[in-house]
Amino acid sequence: MTENTHIFAASSCPHAVTAQDVAITICLNGEAETAALAARLAPYMRGGDVLALWGTLGAGKSALSRGLIRALTSADEEVPSPTFTLVQIYEPDAAAPVWHFDLYRIEDPDEIWELGFEDALHMATSLIEWPARMGSYLPKQRLDVVIEFAPEIAETARRITLVARGSAWAQRLQKMELASE
Ligand SMILES: Nc1ncnc2c1ncn2[C@@H]1O[C@H](COP(=O)(O)OP(=O)(O)O)[C@@H](O)[C@H]1O
Ligand SMILES: [Mg+2]
Repeated sequence: MTENTHIFAASSCPHAVTAQDVAITICLNGEAETAALAARLAPYMRGGDVLALWGTLGAGKSALSRGLIRALTSADEEVPSPTFTLVQIYEPDAAAPVWHFDLYRIEDPDEIWELGFEDALHMATSLIEWPARMGSYLPKQRLDVVIEFAPEIAETARRITLVARGSAWAQRLQKMELASE
């Protein structure tokens, strides 16, 4: 993994990160490295967690989700993009269920309740593409995953910033960082 991990105040992050936020930025070249990051992150996910996946079309939100889901289920798990179904549900044997949302097509934030978001919040890990569509329903305690293209490095390079929103994720990110040293 071409890695450049550090805890910092991310000035280049499009979503305001203050000096108090714990954030990790990693540069990943190729989908396999994104999957490897997902495999490192997956063991830290718990039922009730929300991971908000930020990034434009083709950034790799679905690719990262596939990596997380495969790390918890099996390497050959089918993980279609929930573009049209809006949500896909997975039930790993040894971890909380994973609900993979793609909210691009919702027109009103209230539609998330029809998709069962309340149940997801109680017992599942929610992976949410296009989280801005939820408006103010986006939980304050969450992990933000910001995925940016890095064309100055390579066409297949992505800069991924994990930002802990709330103390629970801050502690877990620090553990994850220590585990990789
Ligand atoms: N480092 C990388 N990480 C993730 N995807 C990558 C990477 N490099 C190239 N890709 C490609 O970028 C595309 C990402 O698509 P996708 O995950 O569907 O994006 P999104 O869900 O953000 O719209 C895929 O075709 C994938 O193979
Ligand atoms: Mg997608």
